[in-house]
Amino acid sequence: VKSIRLLDYVPEGLPGPEHFDIVTEIFNFEESLVNLTPDSVIFRAQVFSADPYLRNRMKAGRHLDPLIPGEIIKGYTAGVVIASKNDKWQVGDYYGANLPLKTITILSGEALSKSLVWKLPSIINDLNISYGIGVLGMPGSTAYGGLIDVLRPLQGETIFISAAAGAVGGLVGMLAKSLLNCRVIGSCGGESKVNLVKEKFGFDHAINYKNIGSKEELIAALREVAPEGIDMYFDNVGGMHLEAALELLRVRGRIAICGQIVDYNSKEMANVPFSPWKMIYTQQRIEGFLCSDWLVGKKGNFHRDMPKFVIDGKVIVEETVFEGIESWPLGFQSLFTGGNTGKVVIRV
Ligand SMILES: NC(=O)c1ccc[n+]([C@@H]2O[C@H](COP(=O)([O-])OP(=O)(O)OC[C@H]3O[C@@H](n4cnc5c(N)ncnc54)[C@H](OP(=O)(O)O)[C@@H]3O)[C@@H](O)[C@H]2O)c1
Repeated sequence: VKSIRLLDYVPEGLPGPEHFDIVTEIFNFEESLVNLTPDSVIFRAQVFSADPYLRNRMKAGRHLDPLIPGEIIKGYTAGVVIASKNDKWQVGDYYGANLPLKTITILSGEALSKSLVWKLPSIINDLNISYGIGVLGMPGSTAYGGLIDVLRPLQGETIFISAAAGAVGGLVGMLAKSLLNCRVIGSCGGESKVNLVKEKFGFDHAINYKNIGSKEELIAALREVAPEGIDMYFDNVGGMHLEAALELLRVRGRIAICGQIVDYNSKEMANVPFSPWKMIYTQQRIEGFLCSDWLVGKKGNFHRDMPKFVIDGKVIVEETVFEGIESWPLGFQSLFTGGNTGKVVIRV
């Protein structure tokens, strides 16, 4: 059994392999099977996720629920059931979960009832198990909830999305296009990402923000492709992008605050100035949200709808795959250097 630990808090800067270690323990399957108590299940992880939110949890005192150095990192994972004494789980069932990142996890019935573990739909197999940490997992629920229930798009409206070549941003744009025929504008870092977003994801326009030095330049670039302004902004990054979007936002415009990745490697989170009075007359709405409500099924119908969207080709899956648990730190780092397109997947 292998797992990932955080060695110490990382108050600022780019996280890297020096901040983590991989722990190896002996696991005897036959013995575990003999000792398996009623209602218990043995889960074998096939993929681990690396997600930006974990960066903030590596800062002591800066997060309500920080990671504990020396403990196994809890994160998103997906895999297959290899033994079960629980009526609800059969050997061969595929699952998605938020659990300590261990290749083998044994959960008692009670532990299972307190953990976030969900069954993946029948389209899942050993080859596409990574959907359980992507389109059918946490980032998928973020795109679904943030777009459909927070931004609530109307047919044909204009939406601007930052980190558009990433896991969440790409899905938001594809759903806005395929479900509501929105005019979709993305921002991302680099020409190859611009091409990906337009050619593969079907965005109408994409801006390479790395060629842009200031908020004013970003506003000008946006005005070129959206002279009448934008109806919605899906904010994955904060900073200059959020400031420009506020400037371009039309009457009854909406902004979903999903992430502020520009600040994740800094000690402090920056503030962005905005004008409350302007929001009154323009009847605009800015809403922060967490994906968990959709992932656990409190809101919307993510687990029913998203597999259908995948089958119907309303979204396509883009991934950057890292091989082996030892590559987890590099997969995680890629989120902050822009080394990934689509979902970062670590095959374990
Ligand atoms: N609210 C929620 O419940 C929730 C849930 C999931 C994710 N999120 C947030 O959603 C955002 C996207 O998450 P994800 O998992 O889909 O990650 P992702 O977009 O796949 O990867 C992160 C991307 O952010 C961009 N980036 C990194 N540093 C940046 C900077 N300084 N300025 C501008 N862009 C930068 C990079 O793309 P470029 O090459 O284009 O720069 C990178 O590829 C994150 O902010 C995350 O925290 C929120």
